[in-house]
Amino acid sequence: MMLKINNLKKIYPNGHQALDNINIEVQKGEFLVIIGLSGSGKSTLLKCINKLHPITKGQVVFNGQEISSLKGEEMRNAQSKMGMIFQHFNLIDRKSALTNVLTGALHKTSIIKSVFELFSAEQKEKAFEMLDIVGLKEKAFERVDNLSGGQKQRVAIARALMQSPSLLLADEPVASLDPATSHSVMDYLKKVNEELGVTIICNLHFLSLVREYAGRVIALKDGQLIFEGKPEQIDEDWFRKIYGEKAKEVFIK
Ligand SMILES: Nc1ncnc2c1ncn2[C@@H]1O[C@H](COP(=O)(O)OP(=O)(O)OP(=O)(O)O)[C@@H](O)[C@H]1O
Ligand SMILES: [Mg+2]
Repeated sequence: MMLKINNLKKIYPNGHQALDNINIEVQKGEFLVIIGLSGSGKSTLLKCINKLHPITKGQVVFNGQEISSLKGEEMRNAQSKMGMIFQHFNLIDRKSALTNVLTGALHKTSIIKSVFELFSAEQKEKAFEMLDIVGLKEKAFERVDNLSGGQKQRVAIARALMQSPSLLLADEPVASLDPATSHSVMDYLKKVNEELGVTIICNLHFLSLVREYAGRVIALKDGQLIFEGKPEQIDEDWFRKIYGEKAKEVFIK
């Protein structure tokens, strides 16, 4: 088992309870998708998993280590095994695709070296390899602000892969992309999952994408886990329970 979440509760400092009594098990190699209305706690869950946010109660056990209790070096090691990608890519716009990917190796490079972009030949070779995986080798020296949204997200995937993660956390990675580009980016995530064996936990909005890419689905509502199962089990009844009586499904082709 790669990840086990036991009885997780998250209350933000302002008193808002964003997650309660969450229990999830994730096996190595899974493609798990988290769905739920805006505000249901999807991003909070990903941030609790990689300890960007401290949890209030419960445990997050990653590769047999309870990460909620890890500190310093041990915590950074655990976090380096978890890559993260975001809706808005979080790239350094004025730098090349290659330099952006290389920043994914920063935990292994001293600050001084990274300021002067002194990356080793080995790191550069790996960065090219990661760009190749997402089909962008020829854009290595292009500034990322000259790239399209889909290409930027692929650079972000390559950057996350630089740290050789065993788990990739993706927070609505295609929410700001058009439908065709969304599929292309999801296809690369699928490739990373199937060919590199990286376990993926991905928050998604569109159920049509969920049906196509998810191996398993978890739905959150008001911070509670209300559904766990295969994408094809989400029928009209479940759809209304998850998204509300008045919700209508929007299809992305
Ligand atoms: N730093 C914070 N402090 C206080 N409350 C927060 C904080 N971050 C999120 N929340 C609240 O916690 C709840 C869950 O937020 P979260 O961002 O996890 O939702 P989400 O499911 O990712 O939504 P979306 O689909 O809009 O991204 C929301 O009610 C939100 O307002
Ligand atoms: Mg969110």
